[in-house]
Amino acid sequence: MDIKDEAVLRLTRPRLLDAARLLGRAFWSDPWEAYLFPDESERTIMEEKFFNIMLRYSMICGEVYTTSSFKGIIAWHFYGDKRGRIVDGEADPRRRLRATIGDGPFERLRSAVPSLIESQKRIMPEPHCYLQFLGVEPGQQGKGYGGQLITPVLKYADERGLPCYLETMREENMLFYDKHGFKLVQAKQLPNEGPFTWHLIRNPMKQS
Ligand SMILES: CC(C)(COP(=O)(O)OP(=O)(O)OC[C@H]1O[C@@H](n2cnc3c(N)ncnc32)[C@H](O)[C@@H]1OP(=O)(O)O)[C@@H](O)C(=O)NCCC(=O)NCCS
Repeated sequence: MDIKDEAVLRLTRPRLLDAARLLGRAFWSDPWEAYLFPDESERTIMEEKFFNIMLRYSMICGEVYTTSSFKGIIAWHFYGDKRGRIVDGEADPRRRLRATIGDGPFERLRSAVPSLIESQKRIMPEPHCYLQFLGVEPGQQGKGYGGQLITPVLKYADERGLPCYLETMREENMLFYDKHGFKLVQAKQLPNEGPFTWHLIRNPMKQS
C-alpha cells in the first residue's frame, strides 16, 4: 500500500498483541528499553509484556492509533482535556506490571518514573497532549509513517490551543520532532543510572 493511501486508525483490541510486538521491535535498541531489560536474550519477550500492559492502559485512558497497513503505533494521553480519562484501582492494567515484568525491571521503572512525572508536572502544568509512545516498524522508518501518525493529534492540539509534550531517550529523534514543531525544554539523566532524557514541548500553532 502506498503511504498516500494509508489512513490513521484506532488500534482495536484484537491487534493489541501485534502492536506490543511492533513497539518492542521499534524500541529494541532504545536506551529506555536497554535500561529496563538489560538482558538482551530476554528483551524481546519482556518488551512484548511491557508494551501489552502499557498499551492496554493507553487504550483506556488515552488513545492509540496505527496506520491501515500497521506500519507503526502511536499512544497519546490528554491531560486536562475532554479526551483524557482516568483509571484506578482494579481496572488499571499497570497493577499487573510487577508480576508481569519481574522485580528487577519493575524496580528500575519505579526509580525512574517519578522523575519523569515530576518533570512533566513542572514543565507542563496546564492541559496538554502527552505523546507516550511512537514507534515505526524497523525497515519502514524514514518513509513518512511517523509523520503521518503524529499529525492528527497535533492538528487537534492546534484547534484546541493545547501544547504537546514528550520525552525521548534518543538525541537523534529530536530532528524528527523538531520537524513537527517540538522544542527542547530540559535535558537530564534519570536517577539511579537511568538513561539521559530530552524533554520537548510543542506550543499550539495559530489557526489560519
Ligand atoms: C522516530 C520515528 C518514530 C520516526 O518515524 P519515521 O516514520 O521513521 O519518520 P518519518 O519518515 O515520518 O520522518 C522522517 C524525517 O525525520 C527525520 N528524522 C530525524 N530523526 C529521525 C529518526 N531517528 N528516524 C527517522 N527519521 C528521522 C528524517 O531525516 C526525515 O526527514 P526528511 O523527511 O526531511 O528526510 C521512527 O524512526 C522510530 O520508530 N524510531 C524508533 C523508535 C523511537 O525512537 N521512537 C520515538 C521515541 S520518542
